Amino acid sequence: MIGAGSIAQAYAQAFENSETAQLVAVADIRFSAAKALAEGLGCRSYDSYEAMAAENGLDAVAVCTPPVTHPEICLYFLERKVHVLCEKPLSIDVSSARMMLGTAKRCGVKLTMASKFRYVEDVVRAKSIVVSGILGEIILFENAFTSRVDMSSRWNADIEVSGGGVLIDNGTHSVDLMRYFLGPLADVQVVEGKRSQGLAVEETVRIFVRSTSGVMGSSDLSWSINKELDSYVNIYGSQGTVSVGWKESKYRQSSNLDWVVFGKGYDKVDAFRRQIVNFSRAIAGEEQLLITAEDALASVEVMEAAYAALRQNRWTAVSRREICDHAKPSEELIIEARNVA
Ligand SMILES: NC(=O)c1ccc[n+]([C@@H]2O[C@H](COP(=O)([O-])OP(=O)(O)OC[C@H]3O[C@@H](n4cnc5c(N)ncnc54)[C@H](O)[C@@H]3O)[C@@H](O)[C@H]2O)c1
Repeated sequence: MIGAGSIAQAYAQAFENSETAQLVAVADIRFSAAKALAEGLGCRSYDSYEAMAAENGLDAVAVCTPPVTHPEICLYFLERKVHVLCEKPLSIDVSSARMMLGTAKRCGVKLTMASKFRYVEDVVRAKSIVVSGILGEIILFENAFTSRVDMSSRWNADIEVSGGGVLIDNGTHSVDLMRYFLGPLADVQVVEGKRSQGLAVEETVRIFVRSTSGVMGSSDLSWSINKELDSYVNIYGSQGTVSVGWKESKYRQSSNLDWVVFGKGYDKVDAFRRQIVNFSRAIAGEEQLLITAEDALASVEVMEAAYAALRQNRWTAVSRREICDHAKPSEELIIEARNVA
């Protein structure tokens, strides 16, 4: 494992008692962090990924460092025929992502992007409910990942390190889920809300998408508010709705009054465990990767388009008359009203 920061703690728990993978070494440029994590797990620690690679016959690595470092670290291991599970986002630009994909193919190794929600059991079940057709034709997808977090002193708000703000940070999960449920995305639009933390990057956005099959979707992302919702994905079909929740997931067909509960909600460590199992089994040739390298590249492509949309900021002005209607009536409108009378 490369990176012994916050997400590495979730991996550490997921590797415990794993039957498909064994964590043998941890590297971090903050050696004290690598050492502390490795000691608890009974494995070796290093102050650089190069030193770790030199001393260990590694089958695979999990890259848990900040986004800007992903291409360099992943390419280093892919070139050495080591399989790579890279934390989201795969990269902060499409050209690096393409290079990573090409290198994985040329070297004959697996490359996947860690996007934990795709491994949540309820999400996988919701997908099979959608595919079964019992909700009719899917018309609308809604998602929200919002929680108040002070990002003023974290790399997540440093564009040079993260590639942007909440859009790329939380939104990579949303885009991956949208693609999972709706298939390829054709169009994207992004609208930014207020910045209450005074960050140099976006703190609150709403993403709108249209899939190539014509389904409309939206996602609310924020570091500044918490929408306090029970669910994070809601999918509406012509004959019913499915709701994937933090504590419970359920669906209802329009023909029935009652909701049918099908899942117990979100379990982070379980999702990471399932991700490691899928990655290990894919390496062993026992199953397909749930998130292919092509999926990872597609999500970087959507994100690049999303930032282009955000920069364009194309709004259509509401007509003057309508603005006046809601405010104090203008002289012009009063005269017009008199004329009409
Ligand atoms: N799947 C999720 O839900 C989820 C949640 C949080 C973060 N993440 C992703 O995980 C990655 C790490 O995020 P985090 O919150 O754990 O960050 P973090 O800052 O807590 O930890 C990152 C660690 O990487 C180390 N590091 C930086 N550059 C390095 C290098 N070149 N070589 C070795 N170590 C290096 C840092 O010293 C730090 O300890 C990011 O890509 C982030 O988007 C995913």
